[in-house]
Amino acid sequence: MRVDECFNVRDLRELARRKVPAPFFTYLDGGSDDQWTLARNSKAFDDYQLMPNTLVDVSSIDLSNTVLGQKMELPFFLAPTGMSRLFHHDRELGAARAAEKFGTMYSLSTVGTTSIEEIAETVSTPKMFQIYVFRDRAFTKEFVDRCKAANYEALCLTVDLPVAGNREGNLRAGHTMPPKPSLATFMGFATKVAWGMGLLKDRQFTFANVAHMADEVKKRGIDLFQFIGEQFDRSLVWDDLAWLAEQWDGPLVIKGILSPDDARRALDAGATAAMISNHGGRQLDSVPAPIDCLRPMRDAVGDKMELIVDGGIERGTQIIKALAMGADACSMGKSYLYGLGAGGQEGVERMFTLLKAELERNMTLLGVTKIDDLNERHIVELCKRG
Ligand SMILES: Cc1cc2nc3c(=O)[nH]c(=O)nc-3n(C[C@H](O)[C@H](O)[C@H](O)COP(=O)(O)O)c2cc1C
Repeated sequence: MRVDECFNVRDLRELARRKVPAPFFTYLDGGSDDQWTLARNSKAFDDYQLMPNTLVDVSSIDLSNTVLGQKMELPFFLAPTGMSRLFHHDRELGAARAAEKFGTMYSLSTVGTTSIEEIAETVSTPKMFQIYVFRDRAFTKEFVDRCKAANYEALCLTVDLPVAGNREGNLRAGHTMPPKPSLATFMGFATKVAWGMGLLKDRQFTFANVAHMADEVKKRGIDLFQFIGEQFDRSLVWDDLAWLAEQWDGPLVIKGILSPDDARRALDAGATAAMISNHGGRQLDSVPAPIDCLRPMRDAVGDKMELIVDGGIERGTQIIKALAMGADACSMGKSYLYGLGAGGQEGVERMFTLLKAELERNMTLLGVTKIDDLNERHIVELCKRG
């Protein structure tokens, strides 16, 4: 199977599964506890049906969209994901270049294997940096200043990770940070020839955004992974978001909220947008799917805050549903990482090609020519029989 033989995101997933060493694929693909939320994220879209209008002039479809003050050619963008080098040697650069080709935004994770500056030098399309408010506020402020200097358009604070979720699959598959191939995981690596060849091209497996601190951290007898781990601050409160909003003074996204109350608080604290997200089902299990949280959150904040649906998106129809139900945009993690694992930048481009084609075809069939015209009239809720 080749990248151009993949006809949907699930095909890319299968190709990635064959190519990426098992411990890393499990890290990409898995969720927490019983993975109920992981499964629900995608399945929840099935509770909403699309209602088309016929005999509409659909000879031209415009997928462009404005979010976070940025005009983009697509109504979806790439969510921040850590450690992309695990999946392919094209790492974050390949994903960002693919996003640029399709005119949409790339989001870089704090724990990426590529630095803030390297991404900024590589792409000219909008960029968002995903930040944490760390114990050391001066260290946090350094990230803000670097993003300003590198002209990032938006900052995104992840709030659903005071502690890492319980991902039992990682334990079983032998996934560790930093990655340490062991005898138990040897077979998972030995059979992935193309991935192994990538080691000759690029060996950057480190947290690139803190790599400059390696010597200082070493003096304390710990490594960068331990250093970042101890920087996570469980005592964060809304005032810390307000502090960050003051430091940044630009589009600020709060990522990882699901409730109308949190949306109101985030608005009050200075967030301009929210990513309705449960971290792709990787954190607290049993929380609802983002799509199910969208309407109550929209009711709570009206049009004072942009809302981005993030979780479970693998199909153009799912993006259309979210936009029709009031989302300003969608973002995705696993779908593009499957592309990355399947074929590096080419694989991420394939993901974009497929989803763009799905969006164009489905908008045509729905009788809607531009994103702003999608609305609740296009949604019919599935009747559940009790
Ligand atoms: C492998 C992987 C790593 C991730 N790393 C981060 C991260 O470093 N920071 C963050 O805020 N979210 C991270 N996420 C969550 C994504 O930003 C996004 O919320 C999630 O993937 C959306 O769900 P989806 O994968 O179903 O599209 C990660 C997700 C995956 C799959």
